[in-house]
Amino acid sequence: MKKIILSGMRPTGKLHLGHLVGALNNWLELQKEYQCFFMVADWHALMSEYKKPSEIGNYTIDNVIDWLSCGIDPKCSVVFIQSQVKQHLELYMMLSCLVPLGWLERCPTYKEQKRELKTKDISNYAFLGYPVLQSADILLYKANYVPVGEDQLPHLEICREIVRRFKSLYKKNVFIEPQALLTKIPKLLGIDGRKMSKSYDNAIALSDSKELIKKKVSRMFTDPKRIKKFDAGHPKQCNLYSYYEVFKPGMTKDVYRWCTKAELGCTECKDKLSQIIIEQLEPVWEKRCYFQSHKDLVMDIFRDGQEKASKFASKTIDEVKEALGNGIL
Ligand code: TRP
Repeated sequence: MKKIILSGMRPTGKLHLGHLVGALNNWLELQKEYQCFFMVADWHALMSEYKKPSEIGNYTIDNVIDWLSCGIDPKCSVVFIQSQVKQHLELYMMLSCLVPLGWLERCPTYKEQKRELKTKDISNYAFLGYPVLQSADILLYKANYVPVGEDQLPHLEICREIVRRFKSLYKKNVFIEPQALLTKIPKLLGIDGRKMSKSYDNAIALSDSKELIKKKVSRMFTDPKRIKKFDAGHPKQCNLYSYYEVFKPGMTKDVYRWCTKAELGCTECKDKLSQIIIEQLEPVWEKRCYFQSHKDLVMDIFRDGQEKASKFASKTIDEVKEALGNGIL
């Protein structure tokens, strides 16, 4: 029996290079070895986007087209939409009953987001329960591992605590404590040197056109000390260089020399980089194009995913109800 993995993304925008190197490439490796469930967390998206919910559906489809175009294979991985598998909300409700409010109020991601996300009003009731729904996502499929970034670790810890509390309350081992699979995320900043994020408007989307990619790369910040072409540069202080490390590691030696010996100017270095990114995205675009003109295929994948996920999830719900002594019939 293969070990189980569950992961999800919130459909709140277009996917960008950060998603590719931070999550998708990792998913591609994992699906070879594990039984993977890849979920679009649309309820989680609604928790923060409830004032303007109509885009969530479009992003759901667009993001999954990116997953498929990058190589997520629905024949071996279960690709599904959270809201289409009703058991997520059922387990969410059940778990909500046993989670102490303090766990959620103390959660560092919650405190941080309330502090940082000034543009969104997340003082709503559901947002506090974000980690509980995430726990339901994971526990429904008895996932052994959850690939996440470091920022998600507190949520996973809450999930593990929920498993222990469930066991101590009902003396039944329905769930297993999932483990985080910490993704070693290569450093890939936005074109302005800040964290790559659509809300900073500094991301290169997987679906950007060639021209747009060239334009964005040409605007990237390089070593500020390298003013003239014949000044020696410092690759370690150059955002461009970190892109080479990610997208063409075999070339970094040359790039390092071009820069430190001022053999090549930043403009040429940028031209080469955009070419590299474009080359790597071209096969993705080709598949994107195909899926975009075959949306029915994507819908079939959703239906199939819904079916497979529901089957698994409803078994877990039955076990949960039994553990509650059939208090909930
Ligand atoms: N919270 C995750 C994120 O923002 C998305 C998510 C929802 C998720 N449910 C999940 C991730 C379950 C892993 C497992 O990226």
